[in-house]
Amino acid sequence: MAIPEINLVDPDSYQHSGPPFEQFAWLRAHAPVFWHANGGEPGWPGFWAVTRHDDIEEVSRHPDIFSSARRTVNFHEWPESTIVRRRSGILDADPPQHTRLRGLVNRGFTPRMIGRLESRVTEICAGLLDDVEGEREADFVADIAAPLPVQVIGELVGAPPEDRGKLYELTNRMTGIADPQLSSPEDFNQAVAEMYAYAAGLAEQRKHEPRDDIVTKLLQPGDDKDELTDHEFGIFFILLILGGNETTRNAAGGGMLAFFQHPDQWQRLLENPALIPTAAEEFVRWVSPINMLRRTATCDTELAGQQIAEGDKVVMFFTSANRDEDVFAAPQEFDIGRDPNPHLGFGGGGPHFCLGRHLAALELRILLQAITERMPGMTLAGEASRLRSNSINGIKHMPVRF
Ligand code: HEM
Repeated sequence: MAIPEINLVDPDSYQHSGPPFEQFAWLRAHAPVFWHANGGEPGWPGFWAVTRHDDIEEVSRHPDIFSSARRTVNFHEWPESTIVRRRSGILDADPPQHTRLRGLVNRGFTPRMIGRLESRVTEICAGLLDDVEGEREADFVADIAAPLPVQVIGELVGAPPEDRGKLYELTNRMTGIADPQLSSPEDFNQAVAEMYAYAAGLAEQRKHEPRDDIVTKLLQPGDDKDELTDHEFGIFFILLILGGNETTRNAAGGGMLAFFQHPDQWQRLLENPALIPTAAEEFVRWVSPINMLRRTATCDTELAGQQIAEGDKVVMFFTSANRDEDVFAAPQEFDIGRDPNPHLGFGGGGPHFCLGRHLAALELRILLQAITERMPGMTLAGEASRLRSNSINGIKHMPVRF
């Protein structure tokens, strides 16, 4: 294999050509912990690109060495004031603060709480397909994949139906940040402020009128009388919206696109619906909705034989881990029966392993079931356009016919 020019962070190339799979393959084979000096953020000297499955697990499972809190988990370099504020949320916290927050929010995500949503998710999927069925054509992203998780999260937090439109609009302004056609930094900040205020209103209401729902549960003190502060609740609410929407939307959109590109697998699913659960997991491996996340070294250390200095930026490329030939047989094949499928689409294990993974899998399974039953002839009706982002592997529009 020729030595490719390495640039893993050019958003334009993600938009036009998708993830740099050839570069990832070369790096996994020759430089699995690679000093990526170019293409970083202005004023930041570069970063370590970690591309192998095992090394990403190693980083994820050692928050004492690879911190989420020091400079957040984003590739972007935030000002110190933003970093301090973000540490109140679980995503950008380290133990012991993370352990405390995770313990409190876990209560809302038990299999019982998620299982209870199953019939509502089924109704939501049916409603979305009802809305487009008569048209014979739709934008799979705008009409199905995007509204599904917004409505499910609205359901999860018990937002009244009349607020769902507002939640959808705010969500889109928050998630489109990387793409100037969709949002701008000012718009993003404004939308976050409005979402935070919305969360405060919801919390206030539940404190006066408790219900048997997740928001009420999150606002109650835990067994040891500890509880989320109002600010922690607001940040967590925003994280649910940010973490639960775009990811699920892109797993659904990118997964369906994979079916259009591999019609033999679609046929296989129609003939064998028992494969729906493994197909849903393969969506997440194949798409890797979160391309990369960042950690910061807390001390001098070594990873895969490479010296890393305290303060260095370390970036985990989940998309690359999910194509690692040391872990997956035929990783370049979209195989809906893949089992086991130890993909890192939900993170590399350790304390930050995705809190919403059971909910995401439930949504994808129910969606697949609905489409196979009601629109088995769905096909691509034009070109799918990709999001301009190096952090999110996303699809903006995908015309379909059925
Ligand atoms: C296919 C869909 C999804 C994907 C690919 C995904 C991916 C991820 C990844 C990679 C992480 C690890 C973060 C890290 O290591 O720093 C994570 C964490 C998280 N996810 Fe998801 N996620 C999905 C769906 C959801 C949903 C539906 C929700 C909630 C409704 C959710 C809520 C969260 C939260 C709260 C965290 C932070 C956990 C912590 O820091 O302890 N995710 N997710």
